[in-house]
Amino acid sequence: MSKVGIFGAGWVGLVTGACFAELGHEVVVRDVVPAKIAALRSGAVPFHEDGVPELLAKNAERLSYTLDVQEVADCEFLFVCVDTPPTYSGDADLSRVWTVIDELPELHGRPILVMKSTVPVGTGEKIRVGLDQRGLEHVGYASNPEFLAEGRAVRDFMNPDRIVIGAFDVADGDAVASLYATIDAPVVRSDVHSAEMIKLAANAFLMTRISFINEIANVCEATGADVVKVAEGVGLDKRLGPHFLRAGIGYGGSCFPKDSLALKQLASNSGYHFQLLSAVIEVNELQKRRVIGKLKRHLGPLRGKTVALLGLAFKANTSDMREAPSIVLASRLLAEGCEVRAWDPVADGGQLPKGVEIVSSVLEAVTGADAAVIVTEWDELRGLASEEVRAAMVSPLIIDGRNLLDPEHARRAGFAYEGIGRPASLTDVSPERSLARD
Ligand code: UDX
Repeated sequence: MSKVGIFGAGWVGLVTGACFAELGHEVVVRDVVPAKIAALRSGAVPFHEDGVPELLAKNAERLSYTLDVQEVADCEFLFVCVDTPPTYSGDADLSRVWTVIDELPELHGRPILVMKSTVPVGTGEKIRVGLDQRGLEHVGYASNPEFLAEGRAVRDFMNPDRIVIGAFDVADGDAVASLYATIDAPVVRSDVHSAEMIKLAANAFLMTRISFINEIANVCEATGADVVKVAEGVGLDKRLGPHFLRAGIGYGGSCFPKDSLALKQLASNSGYHFQLLSAVIEVNELQKRRVIGKLKRHLGPLRGKTVALLGLAFKANTSDMREAPSIVLASRLLAEGCEVRAWDPVADGGQLPKGVEIVSSVLEAVTGADAAVIVTEWDELRGLASEEVRAAMVSPLIIDGRNLLDPEHARRAGFAYEGIGRPASLTDVSPERSLARD
């Protein structure tokens, strides 16, 4: 078993630390924020991620938390798990990564610096030079990107589709691979540049699938097809597969929007205009706003109307609202002059624009509302098309941004219902309007 140092007690760092401890390694987590370290030492976990508190508690004797960089000096592996947010230009901000390199203590033997953070292609090479300039030629370097999705990160870590390791030195790659020896998964060994690109390309491809199916959905709406059936029929082709073909209100989260910008920027900094990725990003932006058109088609001008936004997190089973479509929708609705009510079972809505009323139940959100919009696919919303909700609304209109409900059931229950890429209600909720297509 090995001794692993982790720089950064954020989501990636703590998931990685907890899982390595579970695999039997000794783990030291180092962060620069005293309150975070104090909280972790007292057993608190600063975010919600299934299974992480349990793993941290179960493996407490193999885990320590520190502000002192000297405490990682005897680690065989130093994982960099700091965040790399986008700068104003869309490039990844690597300042925290460079701070880690600057702060490395005196190291002996051949410890290996392992990059988990998502970084532009070419970063490893620059860090190699930086290490050499600091007199740390004896420190190895490897890229070992994470592919963890929020809400299932522990599962993803323990049962990954693959483990990617790129190293300058074969022995360093072997050493990093040995950390995962007990995990049954293919290991892709590559050069550092390719490992960095695998992470960016995998994310970009997933986003491409989402924007693709969202555009197919928009064409389905114009032609009368049903994207849910279309995705099922397309996804059964083994060459294509069923994943990431759920049409909806657009992707959000802490990774996709930032990583797509970083890859687009990386390409253009290198003199290449990545047209397809630019379109994927644009389609996603437009997709978030299409709900407004649907609302107008049913309700006419939105000024003075009350709209309930149901679900605020960027996806279900997380409280994360980073780049969530709900934020764009709320802003657009306010700009249209709507009264906006917002509800989520976990996310606190703190990132919503001023003027949105945050309420604590679905019923409170829909009472007196002209429309209810399903923004996040929470299980709690599966029963939305109920008699109670219909009676509470001024006009029983559901715009289902996640295709969560059964359209026939919703219509039978007396609602005008529109999903994404599915035939719209034939009946209109406001008598003075006829349902015109875009
Ligand atoms: C993603 C990647 O899955 C992960 O490998 C990477 O390391 C980080 O980014 P995450 O952001 O946690 O993980 O969420 P994910 O479950 O992948 O969903 C991303 C977004 O795409 C969500 O907004 C989700 O609603 C949306 N999505 C996903 C769709 O709209 N349709 C789909 O079919 C799948």
